[in-house]
Amino acid sequence: MPGHIPVLVDEVLAYLAPRAGALIVDATLGDGGHAEALLRRIAPAGRLIGLDRDGEAIAFAEERLRSFGRNVTVRQACFGDLDGALDALGVGTVDGVLFDIGVSTRQLLEPARGFSFDREGPLDMRMDQRQERTAAGLVNTLDERTLADLIYRYGEERASRKIARQIVARRPLRTTRDLVHAVEAALGGARGRLHPATRTFQALRIATNGELDALEHGLTQAIHRLRPGGRVCVIAFHSMEDRIVKQTFQRYSRGCTCPPDLPACQCGGERLLRVLTKKPIAPTATEIRQNPRARSARLRAAERLVDPGAAPRDGRRPRGSEVH
Ligand SMILES: C[S@@+](CC[C@H](N)C(=O)[O-])C[C@H]1O[C@@H](n2cnc3c(N)ncnc32)[C@H](O)[C@@H]1O
Repeated sequence: MPGHIPVLVDEVLAYLAPRAGALIVDATLGDGGHAEALLRRIAPAGRLIGLDRDGEAIAFAEERLRSFGRNVTVRQACFGDLDGALDALGVGTVDGVLFDIGVSTRQLLEPARGFSFDREGPLDMRMDQRQERTAAGLVNTLDERTLADLIYRYGEERASRKIARQIVARRPLRTTRDLVHAVEAALGGARGRLHPATRTFQALRIATNGELDALEHGLTQAIHRLRPGGRVCVIAFHSMEDRIVKQTFQRYSRGCTCPPDLPACQCGGERLLRVLTKKPIAPTATEIRQNPRARSARLRAAERLVDPGAAPRDGRRPRGSEVH
């Protein structure tokens, strides 16, 4: 089976800027392509901690990175509990964290994982096979309205109500094909360049794996783990993920934006970061030609401030710098 081609590798190296000897976390190891490029930069004294929720990805990457020996530590973990994974390894602050979120090509192309609408397989979609909740569990048990809301919210699918109605009428759905047929019955055939089931599959995958919550929690924990001058890079593949990254970076770069007369901060702003990418970085036309799956990738990067207590130039107070 063709493996996963890592995206935006030069850009990740440029923005993460790992020094020799650095401690880097790859929170989404996948096939280990980014990890290998990072290890070449930080060797021989550096250390890379690679995490993935998927046991199969862990086994593959472990084998690929074997030659780096004690410079690599690989663990099966969800980055939503980055703190738990790093605490268990006795790791405090780190020099850099990479998130390359979403699914890998290996996961997408394996019919048994149930991620793809063009491969017949069980309606599974779990990234962590130890998890109980599956996509089949969701489509066969949620009430019609909840299902429609889920497809609308995570798939940005305007026809979510029609699709939910078809799903409920056809229960139990067992395979990816069953779900494709339900969507086609609701929507008819192709819609422009998108397969009609694209958005519904995306929605169910996000819901099955709790992807947006994990991103929000994992990114916040990563920001707090960075040493001063340390960097975080996130590659997102759709607008909902990118919005979370953008807003989280904003929250930690602006600091507290509450009115000065409030007795306590209500906005949760904490000035810890300098954003390095004003706009997200997209792959070049050459990269997209060589790897069409890269086309929707968007990279954002930020750096942990050396002196987070310093007053921002617009005069707003950094949180905790004075009594309020
Ligand atoms: C796009 S692939 C990463 C590819 C990798 N950068 C490479 O070079 O091969 C995304 C990976 O992130 C993993 N993943 C997604 N969400 C995760 C989470 N919350 N915690 C840990 N791993 C996650 C997936 O299982 C998948 O293997």
